[in-house]
Amino acid sequence: MSNKSLLNKAESYLKLCYLELNKHHLFEERWSKVKLSIEKDGTYELLDFELDYGAKVAWRNSNKCIGRLFWRSMDVFDMRNVNSIDSVFEALFEHINYATNNGNIRSTITIFHHKSEIRIWNPQLLSFAGYKKKDGSFVGDPKNLNFTNECIKLGWKPKMGNFDILPIVVQVGSKPPVFRDIPTDIIKLVSIEHPKFKSFSELNLKWYSTPIISNMKLEVGGIEFNAAPFNGWYMGTEIGARNLSDENRYNLLLPIAKLMNLDTKSKHSLWKDRALIELNFAVLHSFKKSGVKIVDHHTASKQYMQFVKKEQKEGREATGDWSWIVPPISGSTMEVFHTQMNDIENSPNYFYLKDPWI
Ligand code: ARG
Repeated sequence: MSNKSLLNKAESYLKLCYLELNKHHLFEERWSKVKLSIEKDGTYELLDFELDYGAKVAWRNSNKCIGRLFWRSMDVFDMRNVNSIDSVFEALFEHINYATNNGNIRSTITIFHHKSEIRIWNPQLLSFAGYKKKDGSFVGDPKNLNFTNECIKLGWKPKMGNFDILPIVVQVGSKPPVFRDIPTDIIKLVSIEHPKFKSFSELNLKWYSTPIISNMKLEVGGIEFNAAPFNGWYMGTEIGARNLSDENRYNLLLPIAKLMNLDTKSKHSLWKDRALIELNFAVLHSFKKSGVKIVDHHTASKQYMQFVKKEQKEGREATGDWSWIVPPISGSTMEVFHTQMNDIENSPNYFYLKDPWI
C-alpha cells in the first residue's frame, strides 16, 4: 500500500473511532503522531482500544453477515506480542476453548501482529476432512478436499471418516507450514437427531459447535491483519440448508427423504423441500439439546432488522448484501426478503485471503 493511501485510510478510521468513542478532543494529537510514523516508517501501530474498536466496526461493516446486531459484544484478544509458533498454536487452541465456552458460544477474535507473517492455512479452525476415493466418490466434507490434501502432504494421517476434525496448519514467513492436532477435549461436536424421525440418528450426522473463520484478513485504518481468526455462533440453516444438504457438500437430502418415506420419484412431491425442513429442524433441536448456542433463521432475520433500525438511529446506514442476508430457506417468510439493501463496502472490514497453497 502506498503511503498516501495508508495516510488516507488511517485518518478516516481514526476520525471515525475517536468520534464514535467520544474522544474527538484527542484526535488531533494522535493523528499528528500517526502521520509522522507513516511518513517515517511507512506504517504505524494501532493503540489497543483503536484495534479493539476497529475489529468490531469491521464486523458492523460485513455486508454478508446477518448477525451484526451484536457487533459491539465481541471479545478481542490482542495477540500482537506473540510470535513463536508454539504460542501461536496455544493462542488458537485458547480461542477455540474460550469461544466455545462449553456451548455458550462467545463471539471472539484473536489478532496477531500485522508484521508477524503468520498465516493460518485452515479456512476455519474447526473443520471436517474431505477425501476423494479411487472410485470417484467422496467421504467427509468435499469443501475441504484441497486443504485436506495439503494436510496429508505435510504428514497428517487421513482417517477416512465422514467427520474427522482436521489439524491446524500454521506458516510463519517462508518457513514450511507446521500442523498440529487440536486437543480433543476442547472440541465440541453435536450429534444430529430428530425427535420424531428416530432413524435420523442412524445417519450418524454431526457438526462442530463453533464456526471460526481463519481465511479472512482484518483491515483497520489501512493496517492489514492476515492472521485474525474470528467466530460467532451458528445460524441453523448454515448447517441444515447448506453444509449437510448442498449437492457439493454432504448431499444428504435423498437419504433423509428415504427415511421419511417420501416419494422421491416425483419432483412434484416436494420431497427435497420436506427433507430440508426436517433436517433444519433436527439441527436446531440437536444443538439445543446439547446445550450449544444456535439461532434459527426467523430470529436472526428479526435481529438483523433491529440492527438496521439501530444503525439508522445512530445516524448510519446499514449496508448489506441481500443475496447473503436472506437465509437459504423460507426466504419470503422473513422481513429481510422484503427489504432493499445497499451493498457498499466500508472500512474497517474483513476480506477473503487467497488459499496459501496455490
Ligand atoms: N457458513 C459457515 C459454515 O457453515 C460459517 C460462516 C460464519 N457463520 C457464523 N454463524 N458466524 O461453517
